[in-house]
Amino acid sequence: MSGKEDTAQARVSGPPASLVGRRITLCVSGSIAAYKAAVLARALLHAGAIVQPVMTQAALQFLGRSTLEGLTGRPVRSEMFEGPGEPHVELARWSQLLVLAPATADLMARLAQGRANDLITATALCARCPVALAPAMHPAMWEHPLTQSNAARLRELPGWSLLGPVFGEVASGDEGLGRMLEPEQIAAALPVLLAGSEQSGGSQPAAQLLSGRRLVVTAGPTAEDLDPVRSLTNRSSGKMGFAIAASAARRGAQVTLIAGPVALETPAGVSRIDVRSALEMRSALQQALGEGAALADALVMCAAVADYRPQQPSTAKLKRGTGTLTIELVPNPDLLAELGQARVGQRPFLLGFAVETAAGGELIAAGRAKLVRKKVDAIVANAASDALGTDDTRAVLVTRDAELPLGPGSKQLVADQLTEFLAARLQEG
Ligand code: CTP
Repeated sequence: MSGKEDTAQARVSGPPASLVGRRITLCVSGSIAAYKAAVLARALLHAGAIVQPVMTQAALQFLGRSTLEGLTGRPVRSEMFEGPGEPHVELARWSQLLVLAPATADLMARLAQGRANDLITATALCARCPVALAPAMHPAMWEHPLTQSNAARLRELPGWSLLGPVFGEVASGDEGLGRMLEPEQIAAALPVLLAGSEQSGGSQPAAQLLSGRRLVVTAGPTAEDLDPVRSLTNRSSGKMGFAIAASAARRGAQVTLIAGPVALETPAGVSRIDVRSALEMRSALQQALGEGAALADALVMCAAVADYRPQQPSTAKLKRGTGTLTIELVPNPDLLAELGQARVGQRPFLLGFAVETAAGGELIAAGRAKLVRKKVDAIVANAASDALGTDDTRAVLVTRDAELPLGPGSKQLVADQLTEFLAARLQEG
């Protein structure tokens, strides 16, 4: 494949960005939002990616071939049987990421059925790289159970992600959920997908992505003492928070890790504060974040903070009795919500976790409800069975307007996906 490879590669020596030198195939289907594909192509090129445009026949009705060719410096591909060879196989091998934007209801339906009746669907079926879809359609089409079941099917495929749609005005003037996520937001979400597929690293100089950033990470359970020898606690192992701290430090961040009672080694290059209870964690957070939380660019609140503590912990060991024992519990402060409430402006970026017993759409809805209630920027939602005491995990990263799958894979992999995401968000300003 020819085109702007040389220009893009020349940019590799510039400031590291997650899309530098990445080969992205931008697939455009027939929606009025197709014109936004030009803005997306430009955003990807600015981030240093090499962009190969592919358009369906319907997309060509909405956006001129020469617009994308002029921007990317590469010929638009749209035919299955063009020249020698097999364009879909060639494109699938070349691509490090497929971005389908806009993705129409029809394209999603064909993909969900495994059809390969045009260059985009055939390439997607052949590809083993991450695939990101940005749906765009009238809200009535998006809400239709058929589209919803196609979306659910596609979301479940390993490496496939749906970015949006978002609530807003659509081409007909109607309002609802169906508007394509803005091109800049699509571009910002892509590094996390690439990080996931490459088990961190690839051709990307990972160490630099968070350089100069200050992160505070909490990890592990809290223990709320009943007496000098007993406590109320939970099954959090702390592994996820420790993996995030390690991943951020490897990427050049200055990391303070506030750890509940866990038996884990401090990751290299990380400063650690050990605490036991929720109230101790609150003091440690105040110390690490400073006045007005001005000392941190981001807080990752991974700790499983106890919601209640004994009202009156006993100073002496509680002795066995013959009857039942009642212990009065009082609520602990919600540390993350307090910080969300007190925040003025957009920093620190607040990332929370939500372990739920729900799954699928309910899990995402629960994560988003927590995001709104606690006034934070993103929530990692995972099912209890995927999170507690396991080495491998999977989760959904829920933001105000998108959902990104994390894993399945090691906590290390998911931690790398999260730090890539944070790096991209902090870069946005
Ligand atoms: N959290 C916190 N302080 C608490 C409880 C939770 O800061 N007292 C943080 C956690 O670290 C996590 C997020 O809030 O980032 C969500 O925790 P979770 O226990 O799922 O939320 P709760 O508000 O306790 O909701 P639930 O009723 O589902 O337990």
